[in-house]
Amino acid sequence: MDYNYIMELFTAICHNSLPLRLTPLSIRELFFLQKIPCNIYGLDEGLFTIVLKEKAVMNKDTLKDLVFKKQVTLFAKKDEYKKIIESHQNNLRNVSRSLSIGDPLVNCKKHMNLLTINLQYLLANPIDDDLLNLQFQSVTNLSAFLMNNIGLHKSIYEEYLKQKHYYVFAQPLISSLFLLGVLKQSLVISNKEIESLFLTSYFKDVGMSTIPISVYDKKDLSEAEKEILMKHPATSIKILSGRVSIGTPYLKIIEQHHSISLLESEQAGPPPKNPPLLRGFETMMVSVMDLISAMISDRPYRKKTTLFDALELVKSHISDKYPQEFRLMVVYFKQFFN
Ligand SMILES: [Fe+2]
Repeated sequence: MDYNYIMELFTAICHNSLPLRLTPLSIRELFFLQKIPCNIYGLDEGLFTIVLKEKAVMNKDTLKDLVFKKQVTLFAKKDEYKKIIESHQNNLRNVSRSLSIGDPLVNCKKHMNLLTINLQYLLANPIDDDLLNLQFQSVTNLSAFLMNNIGLHKSIYEEYLKQKHYYVFAQPLISSLFLLGVLKQSLVISNKEIESLFLTSYFKDVGMSTIPISVYDKKDLSEAEKEILMKHPATSIKILSGRVSIGTPYLKIIEQHHSISLLESEQAGPPPKNPPLLRGFETMMVSVMDLISAMISDRPYRKKTTLFDALELVKSHISDKYPQEFRLMVVYFKQFFN
């Protein structure tokens, strides 16, 4: 067998096996990198080709060039993808430590986007202690920053929405931002308690990690899929217990955080049998902020509703038992979206 034939054969085998060794990534995962840690592949006329080489400098022009060439479906080799994850972990760690140095809006925007990218990695691998601990420390730091920068919340929210993160990864942060804002406005809850509730709210859905993404986006769920979805609070507790500093009362809130059930109001089919009862002011606040932030955002299976309609639904659930708290929410959201 001649040498050229062997080399051609080898090249063909390598090329044909490449798809099996690649994992997809979103272009958003490249936004906050300064240098590309491994080769990035795209598709050119059906064939995988390197579109960014390892160590390439990332800037706006690089991204524009990718979009111009319609290279938005990207891949990395599976064994090299961990380099991208490590880069984002390091970025988040560094930004989280220096949130108050420099422009607070720029820092917070970067911090929240990196948190969301890292949450995606955590949901893909919820038993990874490094990912969980980094998220926990970063969310704690974010809580302190947001409490000291209430006037920036609206700009932070608007900037964050521009990134168009997948809603499963964005929802915890948005609902927790609203929760912190309304609790802070109440003037009766300590900063320490607000921090604990912010963490509770952020991590309440980490149990969604066991649900395939294809299920998130469906309008009509099978009974089996509904059951998996309804178990996510219990799964969150299993993932968090003994690994991060979230106390038993807060785990109880996570267990109850669908007291006003999204399944009841959003998904097709009858409401679940024996829906859990709403327990306590804190559970109600976490649950309602989750509900409102979900309702006023688009989903693949429905359009967003108005804030007015979201508040009307909340009113029907809580205004008898929590009239003052409901008024507080109305005032908060009216000011926020004014
Ligand atoms: Fe949830």
